[in-house]
Amino acid sequence: MFEGVESSTILVVEDNPTNIKVVFNLLRDVGLRVLIAKDGESALKKLEDVLPDLILLDVMMPGISGFETCHLIKENPSTQAIPVIFMTALADTENKIKGFELGAVDYITKPFQQNEVLARVNLHLKLCKLTQELAEKNRELLNLNLCLEEKVEEKTSEIKSMQSQLVLQEKMSSLGQLIAGIAHEIKNPIGFIESNLKPAYDYAENLIDLVKLYQTYYPQPVSEIRERLVNTEFDYVAEDFPQLLRSLEEGTKRLTYISQAMRTFCRSDQSLPEVFDVHQGLDSTLLILKHRLQRNEQRPAIQVIKDYDQLPLITCFPGQLNQVFMNVLANAIDALDEAYQQGEIFQGDNQGNCIIIQTRYAEADQQVWITIQDNGVGIPLAIQKQIFDYLFTTKKVGKGTGLGLSITREVMEHHQGKIEVESIPNQGTTFRLKLPVEVSFAPDNSITAS
Ligand SMILES: Nc1ncnc2c1ncn2[C@@H]1O[C@H](COP(=O)(O)OP(=O)(O)O)[C@@H](O)[C@H]1O
Ligand SMILES: [Mg+2]
Repeated sequence: MFEGVESSTILVVEDNPTNIKVVFNLLRDVGLRVLIAKDGESALKKLEDVLPDLILLDVMMPGISGFETCHLIKENPSTQAIPVIFMTALADTENKIKGFELGAVDYITKPFQQNEVLARVNLHLKLCKLTQELAEKNRELLNLNLCLEEKVEEKTSEIKSMQSQLVLQEKMSSLGQLIAGIAHEIKNPIGFIESNLKPAYDYAENLIDLVKLYQTYYPQPVSEIRERLVNTEFDYVAEDFPQLLRSLEEGTKRLTYISQAMRTFCRSDQSLPEVFDVHQGLDSTLLILKHRLQRNEQRPAIQVIKDYDQLPLITCFPGQLNQVFMNVLANAIDALDEAYQQGEIFQGDNQGNCIIIQTRYAEADQQVWITIQDNGVGIPLAIQKQIFDYLFTTKKVGKGTGLGLSITREVMEHHQGKIEVESIPNQGTTFRLKLPVEVSFAPDNSITAS
């Protein structure tokens, strides 16, 4: 008996000296610590100093009754958990029930049966201990659960962000492949047109010359031919046709350039770094963005001012860097669009809206610097730290994704480069990209050609 609860303290509240003696000896003999209070008031007073593990409470006492004492014990948060056993000579059911209703856990009838007293005390001490242990375990479980939930949430959002990144990468690469495919497909027909233009030019010239020769030798042809010459506006056609062919030639030249730029832009051969002409990358990106730079209903055309230095070729993943140029330039255009929508900034400003692209070779650092500056809406100071965050956007749904700059930062890190931003709200923004000329890429991403 009493294993595990030997050092428990029992408070006995009893006014009858004989009863006190019996209970005291009984409990002390089994090794329990026993405290005595002779009435309800002194019991409550004692409870201010000590918290016993169990209370044996007489029902009939001078002063406040056992029931009242029990009620007060159960009302006080610091004592309410202590189990109370009533000791009573009142064997009627009504009183027993009243005791239970007041929160007692058990009752012992007087005169005391020693074994019964010990058995009930032992039982409730153990129950109480078990309850406490259970509560403790419950708390631990709850904490564990909270931890787990947090972990699961963390992992879920990690997975979600990985998923959307994968989806994006997938989209980008299939879009890249599509563009590269189109660029490749239109290359042959363009070549075909281009190669036929020269003979077409020669044939036309010969035919026109031939007609002119006829006119020289037969200045008075039959009326049918005269009419035809007038109806077909021969003189005009003879003069215009070569020009028309020249503009066709110009058109095909542009198509060739666009197809070339599209292929440059999409060079997504991601496995090996390559040497890359930064200016070619910037120019092909500008060409792809050309439709967005043009005049529209809201604003005049955006002027692009290039201030290019002499740059060495750099080692990089060209597809990725072109994506960076694209992201930063597209943001600059968005910022200018927005400035016009707000309608405040450029009215009467003869400088107009422009994007300045400056490149510099920082020879001492062996770096290439690319500065892209716009005079758009600018970035409020409060959010300048957030713009590189994944999914951060201030743009409307459908317009912004909040991916551009986070991808940009990643690519710059991958290239051991840096991206810096300076912005004054309502005046404009400057992004500076710093790229080392030579990079050795981590072997898990790629193998440096040697
Ligand atoms: N040139 C710029 N001028 C003003 N704000 C910019 C500029 N570039 C980026 N920002 C701000 O940074 C945010 C994040 O840009 P980005 O990652 O490209 O996402 P998105 O363009 O899809 O919003 C933009 O929503 C915008 O608030
Ligand atoms: Mg963007």
